[in-house]
Amino acid sequence: MSRYPGFAFDILHRDPASQARLGRLTTPHGAIETPNFIFCGTKATVKGVTPDQLRAEQTDIILSNTYHLMIQPGAEVVAAMGGLHKFMGWDGPMLTDSGGYQIFAMGHGSVADEVKGRRTTTREKTLLKITEEGAKFRSYMGGEHLFLTPEKSIDIQRKLGADLIVQLDECTPFHVDRNYTARSMRMSHRWGDRSLAEFERGGGLSANGLPQAMYGIVQGGVYPDLRKESAEYTKDRPFFATAVGGSLGAHKEQMVEVVAMAMAHVHAERPVHLLGIGGIVDIFAGVRLGIDTFDCVSPTRIARHGWALVPGVKGERLNLRNGRFKSDPEPIDASCGCYACRKFSRAYLHHLLKAEELLAMQLVSLHNIHTMNRLMRDVREGLRTGTLDAVEQRWVWRE
Ligand code: GUN
Ligand code: ZN
Repeated sequence: MSRYPGFAFDILHRDPASQARLGRLTTPHGAIETPNFIFCGTKATVKGVTPDQLRAEQTDIILSNTYHLMIQPGAEVVAAMGGLHKFMGWDGPMLTDSGGYQIFAMGHGSVADEVKGRRTTTREKTLLKITEEGAKFRSYMGGEHLFLTPEKSIDIQRKLGADLIVQLDECTPFHVDRNYTARSMRMSHRWGDRSLAEFERGGGLSANGLPQAMYGIVQGGVYPDLRKESAEYTKDRPFFATAVGGSLGAHKEQMVEVVAMAMAHVHAERPVHLLGIGGIVDIFAGVRLGIDTFDCVSPTRIARHGWALVPGVKGERLNLRNGRFKSDPEPIDASCGCYACRKFSRAYLHHLLKAEELLAMQLVSLHNIHTMNRLMRDVREGLRTGTLDAVEQRWVWRE
């Protein structure tokens, strides 16, 4: 019997022109086709959007965060409510991140945030201390101290009950030196072993009794030998899948180099997730390197600020707050079949944004969710038919 009953990853087709592959990732809550995009439902909600709306815009899979949910409402509450799926009304595949990213994002400040295209946060004092044992935080709610260890992260993720769970790691920031990166990476490896041991202790089952499957994480910053060491670490351990994390460099070209360093050495038959990447150009690059799934807060976060993703447009997005849309009768994107585009004009959305109406955030979110799902469908179709270059030309603006 498989170490991960209820889970499978089948590679259905390999692209002759790149490392890209078409696959099927099966979980106890259904199967998804890959490449695919995982939407962020950080606090057990994709902000402003119901599970039925996610489904209506053809969403396959979402994620939530250990760090946020351990603080509010607490893993025990979620477990008592029957687990995250039941609690939030999402019955499809789901992943929880381990808290490893928050150790970095909220602890080390904002430099690498900007590198990854994220808006900066001002919670720089959240992380109090990282030791071999774990990470000490200040809660974003009451300010009380919290301690997250690999064992605790896995225990919380067992209580949350997502299908796919992630080892605890330190997402190494961009601005630290090679020495820090190497020491941090090796500590993440030891945390990975402790995460696996805790997972085994729990029998690989959620608090609900459903099987879960764990991702190991490749760290190593921008250093080829460290990325190789880390990829080989994950390959040699009984993880179900691989995630590529940490600093991916200072710009897009370096991101491709860094991901390639990891991809040369990861387990070839396991699904690979690229953590925190979700730009359209980056997704094409990642897919060609063999990445199977992506996640990023960006599509839903920018939506709440009035930015709509549109294929083939310079910068990938339109700012619907721009005055030029004030009397524009067209939908956001005439080629889009989302609820917002079927029903409303740019002028109406512009008005809602200016009036700070809640509905604006919801409608632009629905559009961006639909657009990311359409992108991933087009990518898969491109792989199936050997037309990925043509698909990329339709989606990516180039001078
Ligand atoms: N999200 C974005 N980057 C990372 C990372 O390096 N580790 C984890 N756990 N989550 C992430
Ligand atoms: Zn739309």
